[in-house]
Amino acid sequence: MNRMDGKIAFISGGARGLGAATARMMAECGASVVIGDLLDEAGAQTVADIRAKGGKALYTHLDVTGEDSWRNAVKAGVDAFGGLDVLVNNAGIFFMKSTEEMTLADWRRMSAVNLDGVFLGTKTALPHLKARAAKAPVGGAIVNLSSIAGIIGGANFSAYHMSKGGVRLYTKACALEFAPYRIRVNSIHPGLIETDMGRQVVREAAPAMGSDNAARSLFVQSHPIGRIGEPADIANGVVFLASDEAAFMTGTELVVDGGWTAQ
Ligand SMILES: NC(=O)c1ccc[n+]([C@@H]2O[C@H](COP(=O)([O-])OP(=O)(O)OC[C@H]3O[C@@H](n4cnc5c(N)ncnc54)[C@H](O)[C@@H]3O)[C@@H](O)[C@H]2O)c1
Repeated sequence: MNRMDGKIAFISGGARGLGAATARMMAECGASVVIGDLLDEAGAQTVADIRAKGGKALYTHLDVTGEDSWRNAVKAGVDAFGGLDVLVNNAGIFFMKSTEEMTLADWRRMSAVNLDGVFLGTKTALPHLKARAAKAPVGGAIVNLSSIAGIIGGANFSAYHMSKGGVRLYTKACALEFAPYRIRVNSIHPGLIETDMGRQVVREAAPAMGSDNAARSLFVQSHPIGRIGEPADIANGVVFLASDEAAFMTGTELVVDGGWTAQ
């Protein structure tokens, strides 16, 4: 028996990065996975890789900021696999801008993807999660990608902190709201991870730190474990929270940050 056998999971932003690593791991653990993303080519490639290894996967176009887009994407997944047990609200964006530089449009863009996206995903998936959870031995699960930036502050990317802090508490509120439906809701809080976004963070921090290399080595030092994280470090946590092994966990925060926030 594999830890995700028989489960159907929807992963937003699963074309690349942490979402793709999660999709691959969930499929290896027996789940049928639906990937929704803006990046159709990368998403189709991730699905092809999963299928080539014998996994069950489907790609569907999704813009997490749009309610209709969510409706169509979730329907595609439910039609293909017969329901939904797990939702991973993973899609997200990052940019570094001080409050003085930031426009209202910047702030709203961050909110639209990182917060509206999580709300709309949750709202759209909920009826399907409820239906399967009522019959499943343990129930369903939602895992929301927050960040250590949702726990502690930092200068010059306040909009990202705002969005990830919002995800953290929205998660706890949903956990209480959905407990009667047997749906667990938890957040995961990565440190800096080696993905396109992780590299963007290094690149945008570099001017203030002298160079890309200087920024990278400062980020490495910020993690007491002595390295930047790998996507599999986070996928392991998401799969755990989504699986029945986390049956007694809801409304909590799984921090996977190499010790950054322990300091
Ligand atoms: N990489 C890190 O260091 C790090 C650290 C903490 C938290 N996170 C969070 O983890 C999640 C995944 O990050 P990642 O590092 O894999 O980033 P990434 O940029 O590599 O991948 C993000 C994915 O989300 C998709 N996406 C963006 N906007 C979208 C939209 N409107 N609709 C649908 N899909 C959209 C992108 O196309 C991409 O495939 C994000 O929520 C991010 O904030 C990442």
